[in-house]
Amino acid sequence: MNYRHIYHAGNFADVFKHSVLSLIIAYLQRKPAAFRVIDTHAGAGLYDLGAEAAAKTAEWRRGLGRLLTALVPGPPEQAITAYAAASFAAGSAGALLAPYMQALAAVNPQGGLRYYPGSPLLARLSLRRRDRLTAIELHRQDYDSLRRRFIGDYQSRILHLDGRLALKAQLPPKEKRGLVLVDPPFEREDEFSAAAAGLAQALRRFAHGVYMLWYPVKDRAKIARFITMLPLSAAGTVLQAELLIRQAAPQPRLFGSGLILVNPPYILSEQLQQLEPLFLRAFAEDDSACLRHNWLKGP
Ligand SMILES: C[S@@+](CC[C@H](N)C(=O)[O-])C[C@H]1O[C@@H](n2cnc3c(N)ncnc32)[C@H](O)[C@@H]1O
Repeated sequence: MNYRHIYHAGNFADVFKHSVLSLIIAYLQRKPAAFRVIDTHAGAGLYDLGAEAAAKTAEWRRGLGRLLTALVPGPPEQAITAYAAASFAAGSAGALLAPYMQALAAVNPQGGLRYYPGSPLLARLSLRRRDRLTAIELHRQDYDSLRRRFIGDYQSRILHLDGRLALKAQLPPKEKRGLVLVDPPFEREDEFSAAAAGLAQALRRFAHGVYMLWYPVKDRAKIARFITMLPLSAAGTVLQAELLIRQAAPQPRLFGSGLILVNPPYILSEQLQQLEPLFLRAFAEDDSACLRHNWLKGP
């Protein structure tokens, strides 16, 4: 296991995934009943953007940094404060990103922009007192950081396990409502087939759960095969969403961030349309950039 998320924290793929994650959690909160978020590949939880590893790649500058500059004028370091002072029309991209921006503000209480919340912390910061989080991480060091961050938090369970194997035992959640995020590092050749098989198994135990599977948009042939492996017949609805920032290169290089969303909120497709102009202002590197989505199994 070589992958360390600190090198990539806050890049455009994180911004896309975490924006959608916060939109889904906000939707789940429209009903009073409790829910659980299960994060099978949780990472360390909080990332110091000033740390040597993050500074080495500076991926966040081309991700979160660009998003913040597109959202509010001025340097990204002042954007969280500027965002809090600004007002956005209901339903606009700026308003839709409110929970994501609130999480950023919560982890940067001194103002400025030093820390970035990973998926488990982002989820946790959005939960109500009755909601729960299960976060699974296999890398010993990242698990230790994550566990330390959640010590004494009775709403969260932090597990040092293989997320691929552990998910089945976590389903269905006691709350009977929930969101499962599957966000592997894609270091292994079988990551696409494992994600599809894991989803099929999970749907047998928790058919009406909401699922988010992240994948890298790098190799179109692999993605096409992945789509054929998805257990569409076992799912209610399935939405595929991709933020593409540039044309595909002849040699494999990440050019987009993809999500398979099972049983997503019906309004998510409309919300993605509302986010597209902002995301393109922030991330488009050429004319082929887009935020596209299509129902693999429609409502
Ligand atoms: C892409 S990162 C996760 C980022 C995180 N979900 C976020 O959005 O902030 C993938 C994580 O999965 C962990 N990992 C790799 N294989 C795993 C496995 N089999 N089970 C659980 N975690 C694993 C890695 O150590 C890494 O922290």
